[in-house]
Amino acid sequence: MQREAAVTIFERGAPGRRAFQCPDLDVPAVDPAALLPAHLLRAHEPRLPEVSEPELVRHYVRLSKRNFDLDSGFYPLGSCTMKHNPRLHERVAALPGHARLHPLQDPERAQGALELMWNLQQALAEIAGLPHVSLQPSAGSHGELAGLLLTRAYHEDRGQTRHKVLTPDTAHGTNPATVTMAGFQVVALATNPDGGIDLDDLRAKADEDVACLMLTNPNTLGLFDANIVQIAEIVHGVGATLYYDGANLNAVMGLSRPGDMGFDIVHFNLHKSFTQPHGGGGPGSGPIAVSQRIAPYLPLPVLVRDADGRFDLDDGGGVAEGPEPQIAERAVTAEAPIGERMGIVASRNGTRPGSQSIGRLRGFQGNYGCFVRAYAYICSLGADGLKDASETAVLNANYLLARLRQHGVAEYLPLAYGQLCLHEFVLSGGPMKRELGLKTLDLAKRLLDHGFHPPTVYFPLLVEEALMVEPTETETRETLDAFADAIAAILREAAEDPEIARNAPYTTPVRRLDEVAAAKNPVIRQELK
Ligand SMILES: Cc1ncc(COP(=O)(O)O)c(C=O)c1O
Repeated sequence: MQREAAVTIFERGAPGRRAFQCPDLDVPAVDPAALLPAHLLRAHEPRLPEVSEPELVRHYVRLSKRNFDLDSGFYPLGSCTMKHNPRLHERVAALPGHARLHPLQDPERAQGALELMWNLQQALAEIAGLPHVSLQPSAGSHGELAGLLLTRAYHEDRGQTRHKVLTPDTAHGTNPATVTMAGFQVVALATNPDGGIDLDDLRAKADEDVACLMLTNPNTLGLFDANIVQIAEIVHGVGATLYYDGANLNAVMGLSRPGDMGFDIVHFNLHKSFTQPHGGGGPGSGPIAVSQRIAPYLPLPVLVRDADGRFDLDDGGGVAEGPEPQIAERAVTAEAPIGERMGIVASRNGTRPGSQSIGRLRGFQGNYGCFVRAYAYICSLGADGLKDASETAVLNANYLLARLRQHGVAEYLPLAYGQLCLHEFVLSGGPMKRELGLKTLDLAKRLLDHGFHPPTVYFPLLVEEALMVEPTETETRETLDAFADAIAAILREAAEDPEIARNAPYTTPVRRLDEVAAAKNPVIRQELK
């Protein structure tokens, strides 16, 4: 624990101290004024830190220890899939051929990288059960935006302007936020007593003004909606698209495919299911997979391969041949022609991927380092390994749920919906609040003193005092047992003295923060001494 105030690197060290000595100049010295325009030249020397190497190392190592991270403890943050990031992936991503590849490299001289992207696209297409993939979007939420822009382009191509997007009341906040950003109107769908979509509410709200239904399956309650075939029929029946928020894919990889369930557009969160580290706001990746009818609107550039197996990036300037669909598209059920079943109306224009593109979503080709790590994960596990990972994630979640049904826990923290779960489950802290005077936030903060990162709290919104737990497949039974024991211990302690948890945490670098003030009046500048 470090309780001292955070000091910046600029406030450490002393004049003249160095962590690195530059070698002598071995080229002729040039006056910067001869090379740079006057307005870019500095008037004063910059104030740079002057520290020794040990000071430098200690400074950053200490800073890194002030936060809770996956490498130091259990991190069951529901909906976020905080699973171990294998170190092998880091080694592969750091190989100079990957790490030093310039984004402006001529595709002719980056064939290996493009082949890796092509192979990753094919693997993701197979996992999604949909034929075309774009690696462009930089996060799950960016994939959502891409999906809604594709949906708009799809409808406009058929001469339709649709205004509404349906999202269940269990949806992750990014879903309604993206709907609004994309200029559509959010229409919330009710949840039935089993935790799935209320079909009557869906039927009542699905009309010809609905552009899309956005859904996670399993949803944020950790439950698989068994009515998905009916849901797809209702949505496609009014000509709308079905969007799959793939944040919960870790429950179903290799076991069920969104394309087979009837989804038209899927996003993947590579930083969740495919072990790319969560970037803390840094580079991320949220590729999308789409059905044949959505493919013409895909973002640019489209990765293409010619008959000789050479790869290129089609930026819309007209590379002759687009790729063949990477896998066969399947209908929701076997009967009825696929077009009829999926509400497909022929496009007025071309069908080649990207031929009527929504345009670019970002600079360059996407976050390549994320692609390397995700591809390394898929290759090292293989199809059977991905399936095993999902099955183990589901087993771990159900094991932990069973442990939390023990005497002394279940009466205060009952399961909100269902009996069993998939990769995560949501408990309600309502009884705990009423009977012990402990809010979910108090329990979450006290868990930090036991060495565990808290689960997600207060989401989904429809569960009173929600606590959403996702253990993932990479945790051991001992860890799961220790977590269940810690929750039981906190509840026992609260029965004696709830004040202890109400004032937690005690062992962290900072105590409980005023989170509202921090959000409303953030202090983001610190005066240097
Ligand atoms: C269910 C769900 N959907 C969407 C997202 C958004 O994904 P991203 O954080 O990659 O933008 C998340 C992220 O936590 C999520 O849990």
